[in-house]
Amino acid sequence: MQVVIFYGSPRKGNTYIATELFKDELSKCGAVNYQEFHMPQDLPEFCLGCQICLGNTNDKCPHFQFTEPMYKAIMNADALIFTSPHYGASTVPAGMKNLLDHFDFFTLTVAPRKEIFTKKAFILTTGTGSAAGIRMLRKCLKGWGINRVRSVGIKLYTNRWKSMQPKKQANQEKRIRRAARQFYNLKKKPAYVSTVFMYYVNKFVIRKYVGEGNYPYEYWKSNGYFDKRPF
Ligand SMILES: Cc1cc2nc3c(=O)[nH]c(=O)nc-3n(C[C@H](O)[C@H](O)[C@H](O)COP(=O)(O)O)c2cc1C
Repeated sequence: MQVVIFYGSPRKGNTYIATELFKDELSKCGAVNYQEFHMPQDLPEFCLGCQICLGNTNDKCPHFQFTEPMYKAIMNADALIFTSPHYGASTVPAGMKNLLDHFDFFTLTVAPRKEIFTKKAFILTTGTGSAAGIRMLRKCLKGWGINRVRSVGIKLYTNRWKSMQPKKQANQEKRIRRAARQFYNLKKKPAYVSTVFMYYVNKFVIRKYVGEGNYPYEYWKSNGYFDKRPF
């Protein structure tokens, strides 16, 4: 299984330790290759809000030198993993939000990739409010048309994994390993009802309101999305 991991924490702390456990268990399930990107180091520029990616092919992004390897990794992967601590201000650290902004053109509203409809994704978050990060990331990934999203939230009440009670550490490790096994064995399923719904809504909107000559329309047309569902 080809896996791409996006790390949202700017440090190698709790989320990194939890991800290592997840990877360890995943690798025990079978052959797994990892390609990894760390935020913000691997995407050090903020989205400029130019909206070029919403109206052109994504190679026109001013940060394409950073996003191209990520784009290729996503396209080649069977599974995507997003790991992040919970930051109260807006659920995830700025680096993770910045990653999502740079790939917002994947949304069904613009230029959804047919390759993405076959992929599965996993979200791993740490922090007391870990569920909030999961909600946000899941909504975004479902907006890309990902086939199935699974998650685990590690509620720890400390900024250092090792300072958790040994019993609690063991319990969290057990949850992470179980989630990894389930994720490895997760098979492609029929698309989410929300994906099917959004496909039909956008098919109508892009045809009627975006119109010929505009990027989303031309992208949908050249990929045959107006004629046939891409999933
Ligand atoms: C700026 C900042 C804001 C945070 N806000 C929250 C929060 O609102 N709720 C929470 O449960 N944890 C919060 N935390 C704690 C982290 O989510 C938690 O310690 C996490 O496990 C750290 O992961 P890391 O070691 O991988 O960076 C915050 C940490 C930082 C640095």
